[in-house]
Amino acid sequence: MCWSKIAVIDDADSIVTTIKEQRSITQQQQYNPGLPDLCTPKVWVLRVLRFATLKLFNFPSERHPVFSVSDFFQKPKKMNKHYKIFIFLLIGLLSACKGPAPDPIDAKIETLLDQMTLEEKLGQLVKKNGDHPNLPDQIRQGLVGSILNEVNPDRIYELQRIAVEESRLGIPLLVGRDVIHGFRTIFPIPLGQAASWNPELVEKGARIAAVEAASQGVNWTFAPMIDVTRDPRWGRIAESFGEDPYLTGVMGAAKVRGFQGDSLSAHDAIAACLKHFAAYGWAEGGRDYNTVSIPYNELYDIILPPFQMALEAGAATIMTAFNEINGIPTTGHVSLLRDLLREQWGFQGVLLSDWNSVTEMIVHGFTPNYKESAYMAKQATVDVEMVSRAYETYLPQLIDEGRINIEQINDAVRRVLRLKFDLGLFENPYRFKGDFPELLAPEHLEASKQMALESIVLLKNQGALPLPKNIRRLAVIGPLADAPHEQMGTWVFDGRKENSITPLQSLRELGLSNGFEIYYHRALETSRSHQITDPKGILRSVGRADAVLLFLGEESILSGEGKSLANINLQGAQEELVRLVGTANRPVIAIIMAGRPITFEEVKPYMDAVLYAWHPGTMAGPALTELIFGKVSPSGKLPVTFPRHVGQIPIYYNHKNTGRPASFETFVHLYDIPVEAPQFSLGTTSHYLDYGFKPMFPFGFGLSYSSFEISNVALENSQLKAGEYLKVALALKNTGKVKAAEVVQLYTRQKFGSRTRPVRELRAFQKILLEPGQEIKVYFEVNTHDLGFHNQQMQFVTEPGPFQLWVGTCSQSGIMKPFEIIE
Ligand code: BGC
Repeated sequence: MCWSKIAVIDDADSIVTTIKEQRSITQQQQYNPGLPDLCTPKVWVLRVLRFATLKLFNFPSERHPVFSVSDFFQKPKKMNKHYKIFIFLLIGLLSACKGPAPDPIDAKIETLLDQMTLEEKLGQLVKKNGDHPNLPDQIRQGLVGSILNEVNPDRIYELQRIAVEESRLGIPLLVGRDVIHGFRTIFPIPLGQAASWNPELVEKGARIAAVEAASQGVNWTFAPMIDVTRDPRWGRIAESFGEDPYLTGVMGAAKVRGFQGDSLSAHDAIAACLKHFAAYGWAEGGRDYNTVSIPYNELYDIILPPFQMALEAGAATIMTAFNEINGIPTTGHVSLLRDLLREQWGFQGVLLSDWNSVTEMIVHGFTPNYKESAYMAKQATVDVEMVSRAYETYLPQLIDEGRINIEQINDAVRRVLRLKFDLGLFENPYRFKGDFPELLAPEHLEASKQMALESIVLLKNQGALPLPKNIRRLAVIGPLADAPHEQMGTWVFDGRKENSITPLQSLRELGLSNGFEIYYHRALETSRSHQITDPKGILRSVGRADAVLLFLGEESILSGEGKSLANINLQGAQEELVRLVGTANRPVIAIIMAGRPITFEEVKPYMDAVLYAWHPGTMAGPALTELIFGKVSPSGKLPVTFPRHVGQIPIYYNHKNTGRPASFETFVHLYDIPVEAPQFSLGTTSHYLDYGFKPMFPFGFGLSYSSFEISNVALENSQLKAGEYLKVALALKNTGKVKAAEVVQLYTRQKFGSRTRPVRELRAFQKILLEPGQEIKVYFEVNTHDLGFHNQQMQFVTEPGPFQLWVGTCSQSGIMKPFEIIE
């Protein structure tokens, strides 16, 4: 991981500091399209040499209109001695210039660019929706280089054919789609995938999604979304990897590797798009699209690191965000996009606006009209405008007026063409006609089931799970037990509910083979219904059953874009349903399917066990059935804190300590305060009188059917210099009776710093599967450089001083060891 922070945007919105401790993105790993850079040292050396050759050795200049290597080996008649010295120097100079060999694609791009009219160039910079009127004709005229939301392979074939065969220059199309958690085979929502804490599996899921999408003609996905968020009210938390920058970065990088495969040019690879740059998950009040105010050190320490990690994995493209940051909409944010992303980070891939986000700068109150919106977005180096039409309409005028330089346009077009070359579209625009596994291939479904198995989190278990195999009667109740559409979750454009296997279907199948009966009641028409149907019948069934499976949660449409909620309790009459069932003195197992953390504190006491399933996707049924009956032990861990009450938000694990941290010793509940208690007689610490200071469930938490013990935690060295590796060894033992996986988490805390430090920060983790009784050694290595942060001068520093580390299975526990970073 590279926590390099490079430059700083100050309040005046300009770069003010360049960080010395810069660790640049590993160039070899980065998808870094080599645009022809005419200012490289090598080019300049060659230019000087050419000049020197012509002048010093009297080559007739008309014979050498351009530089040719053979010139140097054509011995001149005069100045023999100087010539030898010159050749000697030349060889030395050239071998000192170890620049990359010229890329033949650069030449192709330049040739194309030379032939393009301004209109054709601008065509490469617009992305039009698949239903745009006259799309075929516009493509034919070279006015559209990129489309989205068209997934009919025949139509894509036809549009691509028009682009390459009927447009003047035959430039193929980019075909974009939101492939967020699967194409036809739907995987758990990203928040659920993060709960697996298994990046290999996440990568595999993205690979499958890419293969399925590519087979239908898609070559660019607008994923992964790596917006860190601390707010479960925000509907798009479903699409995020939660609240932690490190976990988000690891998962984002895994997705990128999965989408893009080993090479973008493979027929089954699709370009990834990191979004939304930046801080979209920081919307005030968790209300989607809302204003973002964020201190720059938080922007740099929390929001940006996942982008750097995913760029290291080679992400080809980036999307801007709808929001403003501290008054500047990101799509026109010159210092964020041009100065930081392009110049400091060296990002040379395609930068795409979000849907209409160029022209929404007018609504934000940042630009007066389309023309100025186009100007600002272009100044900020946004290459492609999604859907709105400011670029095609106003860039020509802005060029005429000399406000936008044609080189700015050329650079953007180069980047788009480079992506098309890298995707292999020039060689094979119909690459989706190649050899692909079928959609929903058995191995795709198996991977989706595995992901669901690993993403579901066991939050509570008072001996109710797993159910015994010899169970005779099972009550299955609730609006989500048999909801094939809802279990897929948000952002599902291409999944089909008829492919979903619901929990009720799977349980019925198992019931037939294991010989148990099922009494099923939907109870509520939808997750929002207020009317419980047939409460008496429900009670009768519960009374006859050995156990109750209560399927609760929210419909898929209640999370995702634009689906923020102020109340994140179970909606409708679900709490009433829990109480109804919970009073019947039968083990109640709640299975909650949702796109966000739901606050169910008030009804938790009625639940003997809780499996938090997120929206698990196509294979929800088989996965849940295996967990419920103990074929597999749950191993998911929360990627986000679950509040007890919405009013506690923001509540997150990596918070600051404050000067008056809360404690159980100082906390007095609202109802326990004596009447007329004197003002300062009770603890004055940072808590709520009603809901205290603890969440319902903390980050990193999740139970298992087994138990684990961590022991023998040892540090190789407890005094290190910045840049040295912190090496930790420990023993992990499965002390339970079943095979199960545990996630060992490593957190650190710097006791004090020139800026206050969080009480804990996740630095590393490993998910390990162990047989009962098995014990293994686990090793971690963390570079102490990565423990740095942005100080008051916004320099990235690793300050010497005392630290603590914890290794454990949750953010609130673990074995602590002190260590120190020394000068
Ligand atoms: C979303 C993006 C998405 C785009 C295209 C926008 O509304 O914010 O994340 O990729 O639509 O569907």
